[in-house]
Amino acid sequence: MTLLDRLRTDLDVRRETTGLRRDLVASGIQGPTLRVGREILVNFASNDYLGLAADPEVLESAQRALRDQGLGVTAGRVLCGTREIHGELEAAIAELVRAEDAVLYGSCFDANLGTFDALLGPDDAVFSDALNHASLIDGIRLSSARRSVFGHADLDELARRLAASADARHRLIVTDGVFSMDGDIAALPQLSELADHYDAALMVDDSHATGVLGTTGAGTSESYGLDGRVDVLTGTLGKALGGGAGGFVAGSHAVVETLRQVSRPYIFTNAMAPPLAAAALTAIRIARGRPELRERLAANTAWLRRTLLDLGYDVLPGEHPIIPVMLRGSLAREVAAALRREGVLAFALSYPVVPVGEERIRVQVSASHTTEQLELAAAAFGRAHAVMAGA
Ligand SMILES: Cc1ncc(COP(=O)(O)O)c(C=O)c1O
Repeated sequence: MTLLDRLRTDLDVRRETTGLRRDLVASGIQGPTLRVGREILVNFASNDYLGLAADPEVLESAQRALRDQGLGVTAGRVLCGTREIHGELEAAIAELVRAEDAVLYGSCFDANLGTFDALLGPDDAVFSDALNHASLIDGIRLSSARRSVFGHADLDELARRLAASADARHRLIVTDGVFSMDGDIAALPQLSELADHYDAALMVDDSHATGVLGTTGAGTSESYGLDGRVDVLTGTLGKALGGGAGGFVAGSHAVVETLRQVSRPYIFTNAMAPPLAAAALTAIRIARGRPELRERLAANTAWLRRTLLDLGYDVLPGEHPIIPVMLRGSLAREVAAALRREGVLAFALSYPVVPVGEERIRVQVSASHTTEQLELAAAAFGRAHAVMAGA
């Protein structure tokens, strides 16, 4: 069988079993609503937590940078691709997350791919939560460090694994700050205690928390009042911070400088386009300067969580704007389709994204959702629940 024959056969099997993934094709500017063909859907499927993707100031700053600096730089950072705006953005990120320094990547996926191999060697060990993001998993795989996966949020197992690794030169505990499927927040106080106890470093991917959690939007660590306890912090500019694209690693000068010297996705790729950097810079200024956006986000989230619980839905507990509504088996897809018919966009997640039996609809709330939009979603969920109860 040739490669192409096998791929065709595998696709046929996939088509008949799980079905093939199809991208939803939207148009227009991303905001609390999304145009899909002729439909305007209220969007509960994006990571635009602060509603900055459609912010006029953010968009204008990108336009200005496009006019003054052009679209892209056609070179990597270490050649002639670096502009002043890259340094300004790195300084703004470091200030936002309260780190000594920060370095930009094309995405957080790249940041996670490029960090482990750069910082660790074969004598080192990484301890990774089982539900960590795919990019952390792949980044660890690309490094020569020993990999030790502990059960999701299972601190006892982590402690046992740390205790059994006395021969490692360095130990690095790595966790998502907020887990993207469950919306739960990593137990950073306990994780940093374990890190202290076992002389390990702590790395957090705060993609769903930067700009979102903490009084000033510094992220998961700030939400616990744990300033400066995270040694390596990665995050994205593609979610709350304007939703353009880009990622970063923040930490001490030693971490950041090492990455600049040896991290492959920093060195061997084109530098961030100035319009994206300008948009992110403006988004960070707004995210820091307008705490009322986080207050609004928290209020919207609390309202929708409470309403879904009152309607009788099984909602995983938490405070983050990721609200997982557990609907086992095919129900998740059926309810998502019913919501869609009522103009509400939220995705059903099933295997392999979540384990079999843990199917769900992931609802993501934004500060930009209006009361009417939240009520529309609640009413649509209410009708779907009535149909399920009657079925
Ligand atoms: C926890 C986490 N880390 C990393 C990423 C990747 O971020 P980016 O879109 O910047 O590559 C995501 C996005 O899906 C994420 O949820």
